[in-house]
This record gives sequence, structure tokens and C-alpha cells, in this order.
Amino acid sequence: MTEPAWWQRGVIYQIYPRSFQDSNGDGIGDLRGIATRLDDLVALGIDAIWISPIFPSPMADFGYDVADYCDVDARFGTLDDLDALIAACHARGLKILLDFVPNHTSDQHRWFLESRSSRDNPRRDWYLWRDPVIDAEGNRHPPNNWISDFGGSAWEWDAATGQYYYHAFLKAQPDLNWRNPQVVEAMLDVLRFWLDRGIDGFRIDVLWHMVKHADFPDNPANPDWTPAMGEMLRVFQLHSTDQPEVHGIAAAMRRLAERYTPARVLIGEIYLPVEKLMDYYGRGEPEVHLPFNFQLIEAPWDAPALARLIAEYEAALPAGGWPNWVLGNHDRPRAATRVGPAQARVAAMLLLTLRGTPTIYYGDEIGMADVAIPAERIHDPRELNEPGKGLGRDPVRTPMAWDGAPNGGFSDGDPWLPMHGDWQTRNVAAQRRETRSMWRLHHDLLALRRRHPALSVGDWLPVAGNDAVLAYERRDGDDRLLVLLNLTDAPQRFELPEWARGLRVLLSTHGDGEPPQLRRNEGVILG
Ligand code: GLC
Repeated sequence: MTEPAWWQRGVIYQIYPRSFQDSNGDGIGDLRGIATRLDDLVALGIDAIWISPIFPSPMADFGYDVADYCDVDARFGTLDDLDALIAACHARGLKILLDFVPNHTSDQHRWFLESRSSRDNPRRDWYLWRDPVIDAEGNRHPPNNWISDFGGSAWEWDAATGQYYYHAFLKAQPDLNWRNPQVVEAMLDVLRFWLDRGIDGFRIDVLWHMVKHADFPDNPANPDWTPAMGEMLRVFQLHSTDQPEVHGIAAAMRRLAERYTPARVLIGEIYLPVEKLMDYYGRGEPEVHLPFNFQLIEAPWDAPALARLIAEYEAALPAGGWPNWVLGNHDRPRAATRVGPAQARVAAMLLLTLRGTPTIYYGDEIGMADVAIPAERIHDPRELNEPGKGLGRDPVRTPMAWDGAPNGGFSDGDPWLPMHGDWQTRNVAAQRRETRSMWRLHHDLLALRRRHPALSVGDWLPVAGNDAVLAYERRDGDDRLLVLLNLTDAPQRFELPEWARGLRVLLSTHGDGEPPQLRRNEGVILG
């Protein structure tokens, strides 16, 4: 067997840069701030950081609207700061991944300004321009029924040139035309630019969105749709996403990444059913190393359902396909809110003991929950466009708390979003001092993972559980570990399998443990 790559053994940590550490008092996190926190991350025990977009941007979608792919936004610092951060990461043995946003640019990107300047501009075809549909009464309509993920038609009328352009997200985020080979070349150049600077890989934003049906047919209506679900779900995105041609593009990105040593990694953001997700490993040519597996974010918190989901995912992986797991990110409710603070500890044990690469969302290691944002402080366009439906993402993007200093040590100025209410006790310094804190649990799980390769790269084997306890074995040669997770708020007994009877508790979410008794909300690892 070949040695596992760093991204197979390692644990990734997602940083939302606006909220991680501010170094200049403007209330917004920045690259120099991140650099000052690398030692804290090393102490926690992670292997790689992925930083959400830091490129020049009007911030209509907080950096996911890129105006220049090859520079750093002044709010976050300079290209020199990024070079220094790359060097600082590497000096500590950390890898650093950037967020590549290939599906769309900002409407302020030079390419789009040229494209919209006239119909015969050489860059016109770099974006998706279409004629209007004119009805019998002579009224103008968009070319089809496609809906933006952020609400409303996905088509924006451009009076100056008499056509609509397509935007899967905000109208300030026009979609690129990836059927145009010049776009493919220009964007591969962007990847080269960063790989040559020493970036260890990319998280690729909305990878499954990149190519649309060439004829732009209407999407089928969702018969179960209700307004409370948000506009995006009104139609199924059958023709606007996941087109066969996207796979050739993902394969081209992979070929480029493969030319670099040490190994670079590509992680695709893809929200699709498992069977479709697997296509992005590459059915013929290899595509992304890790198509993000978001199932734990969406699954019911129930032992039999989770056992089934994990087994089915493992079984669906293509030969050589490496699994990965995630509990949260900058778009989804935090784990501590979704499953509650007690079960969030069990969830952390699950995330860090499944086979494959886990990604930890910043703040989850201190048990941060979603923060209620007062109306006048809402920033997220998703909430502003469709208020009150629970779609807003500000609650999961609030500043990190490091210590007991004002604003948790995040900023000397006014944080751009409010801190969580209990930051004075829920912060990294306080939790590092406590033996049973959430930070300590993450630290101990990560340390155990390093000591026992069975927990990262070993086999995952289901162990017959019950309605309350999720049980599985991790095995690497002779090293056999048993993970027992009580997903309920009641004590449970669990009949240990024969082979596990002599094992002792290596780690418990409660600090100590005594199987076959499991306390309420307790997870244990036996070995
Ligand atoms: C991805 C990002 C999200 C962003 C969207 C549009 O889903 O994670 O934050 O709004 O793409 O770029």
C-alpha cells in the first residue's frame, strides 16, 4: 500500500477570515491576524488551514464575488502578507489552502466590465448572455425560469446591450461561460499563479454549478415547494447545474495540480446526492481529491440513520476514492446549535473518528453556537433578500473568541458582527485551562488520532449498535479501536463485542468512562 498523502491523514480547519483575528483595529479579521494565531492552531493539533476568499472584492457576497483572482483585498492585507503567511504555515508544518471561486466573478471584475461594454467585445462570450423572450403582447421576459440561489430570477437585464446575463447567485456575481476555452485557460492560469506561490491546494466553490445546459431549457418545477422554503427550491436545478461537461474541467484542474510537488489537494464544494457526488472523484480521469461530503450537516441526529448513512457512503466510494466529513461551514447552522451543546461533543468525536479527512469549522472547537443578529447588524445578502426564513448566514460567521480581553481578543475596534454572548468564558484561553472543555476534547481527539493511525487511515467497520448508540470499529493491522457514541440524553448500556471486552477507555467526552455503561450524551473510544 502506498503511504497516505498528508491530506488523507490530516485534519483541515476552515477559517472565515473576516472573523478570525483582526490585527489593525478595523473590526474585520485579516491575514496578519491569522499569522498570529498559527501557534494556537498547532497547539490544537490541526494539519491544514483553508481560508475563505481573501481576494479583492466589493464584498457583495463577502469575498465570494471576486474582482481580481491574483491579488489580496486591502481589508485582508497584501500579497506580501499572504506570502508571509504561506511561509509561516510551512515553517510550522501546516498546509494552507485557498478558496477558488470559478463559477462566477464580481460584476466589477475587469472581464465582466469588458463583457458588458458591447455585444462585440472580445470578452462578450466569457459570460452567459441571452436574448429576451418577447411574448405575444410584446412584453420582455428572461430566457428561462432559472432562479437565483439568493432569490428572484437568475437573469439580469442589461438595457445598454439589450440582453440578459445569468447569475446563479447575486446579480453582482455574473456566471462565467466555462464552455469558452479562453475562460478555461484564464482560470487555469489563476490556479498556476497560486500553486507557484506555494499554496497547497484549493477548496473549489460551487463546483457542480460551473457548466449549464447548452440550450438553457426551463428547470422542472418542484411540486412540493412552499414560500417558506425560500425561492431557490421553487425549481429543481436539473439543467442549471451538474452537467456532464463539468467533469472535463475538474479533470483539467486535477492534471494541473498533479504537476506540483509536494502533493496539492483539490476539494470540491458539491451539494448533490451521494451517487452523483461520487462522479466528482472522476469516473475515468481523476477529478477532485475530496468532493465535500456534507451529509452529517443534513442528517437526522439518530444512531440507526447515521450508521446507515456512513455505511452507504463507504460502500458508494469508487476504488481509491478517499472519504471526507464535515459538521459545519460558513453557510450552514453550527453543530452546537443543530444538535445542542451536549451532543456537539459527541458530534466532534464522530467527526474525528470516521475514516477520511475531517474539516473543522473555526469556533466549533470552543463550542460556538449560532448568534442571533439584531436586524440593524445583518450583513448577509441572503437574509436581506429573503428575510425571516432562516436562510441568513451571519449567525455562523461571528468573531472567534481567543481570551478574556475586550471582544475576546478578536479586535481592538468594533467587531463587524456581534460576539457570542458568553465569550468571556467561551474562549480559547479559558478552555485551554479547563480539563473538560470543548477545546480540550478536540485537542485530545486530535492527539489520539495522531497516535493511532487506525483512527485516520484505518478501516471503518460497522458494529451492530442499537437505537441509541452508534458503534463502529477502526482497525489498522493489530490496532483495533471501538467507538461508542450515545446519541441520546439518557444513560445506555451497550453489549461490547467479544473482541473488545478487554479494551480500556482511551478517551471519553466526559473525561473518563466505564463501558458497557454510557452516560447521557457520552461518547467513548476504547483501545
Ligand atoms: C458557496 C459559498 C457561499 C457563497 C456561494 C456563492 O456556496 O460557500 O458562501 O455565497 O458559493 O459564491
